[in-house]
Amino acid sequence: APDIALANVQAHLNQLQTIATSNSGNRAHGRPGYRASIDYVQAQLNAAGYTTSLQQFTSSGATGWNLIADWPGGDPDSVLMSGGHLDSVTAGPGINDNGSGSSGLLEVALTVARTNFQPKKHLRFGWWGAEELGLVGSTYYVNNLPAAERTKIRGYLNFDMIGSPNPGYFVYDSNGQPNGSIDLQRALEAHFTALGIPTELTAVGGRSDHAAFARAGIPTGGLFTGAEVTKTAAQAQKWGGTSGVAFDQCYHRACDTTNNINATALDRNSDAIATAIWSLADVTTPPPG
Ligand code: PHE
Ligand code: CA
Ligand code: ZN
Ligand code: ZN
Ligand code: ZN
Repeated sequence: APDIALANVQAHLNQLQTIATSNSGNRAHGRPGYRASIDYVQAQLNAAGYTTSLQQFTSSGATGWNLIADWPGGDPDSVLMSGGHLDSVTAGPGINDNGSGSSGLLEVALTVARTNFQPKKHLRFGWWGAEELGLVGSTYYVNNLPAAERTKIRGYLNFDMIGSPNPGYFVYDSNGQPNGSIDLQRALEAHFTALGIPTELTAVGGRSDHAAFARAGIPTGGLFTGAEVTKTAAQAQKWGGTSGVAFDQCYHRACDTTNNINATALDRNSDAIATAIWSLADVTTPPPG
């Protein structure tokens, strides 16, 4: 897989920060900063040759949108999907949560286009609305997929918080949740293994958008660098950083700005996303069950 340029991921984060700053400090569902975030990501993808669409929904009396981007080509009956939520909480700009996953994924998608990757599977990307209101956008997408389309999705990879300032390197535990996939887990571990960086498995349960896909019977996996939980001494030993301090002290706070990002973690995770997508997309995978 190609190396993902950290500077490009950071440039997307800077754009999302600017959007929040000029829109009352957040990018939350129902607020103008969310719509501006959608417009930024969609314009980048359109310019790169993606086929994009906005899916509109209503939640808590406000309009929300999911952004879906398809990379032309590949087997239309065998889809590898990757996504993350683009909304923030109202308290702040949401740069680690989840500008990080949104920007890493955007740069991977743009690298697919730049390198003209033509894999066996069809690649689809999703940026979800209203995750912070309870996985609203991703649930809306899955619930409105015709059964025939749902069964074409061979796997779903989720990226929510991949640049935590005191990072851990967590991979979603395929045994820790229904429809967790050992193949997706291993593909996400591969870049860390190559770097000699230990990972830990984590049971994310219903805390992010992969849960909507899992409920629909779609195999899922994902990466995470930690939120409000405290880093242990053993974790600081193997990963560096500060024990006794949260992975992200600014989780859901106004201080979740571009200063709240560990660049090394953001780079490693962005590269790990590319490694997983390049390997998973170029093999044939039978439907589950
Ligand atoms: N989904 C949570 C949020 O947006 C963050 C989270 C991600 C928690 C992954 C656990 C695992 O606030
Ligand atoms: Ca890189
Ligand atoms: Zn959140
Ligand atoms: Zn999140
Ligand atoms: Zn790397």
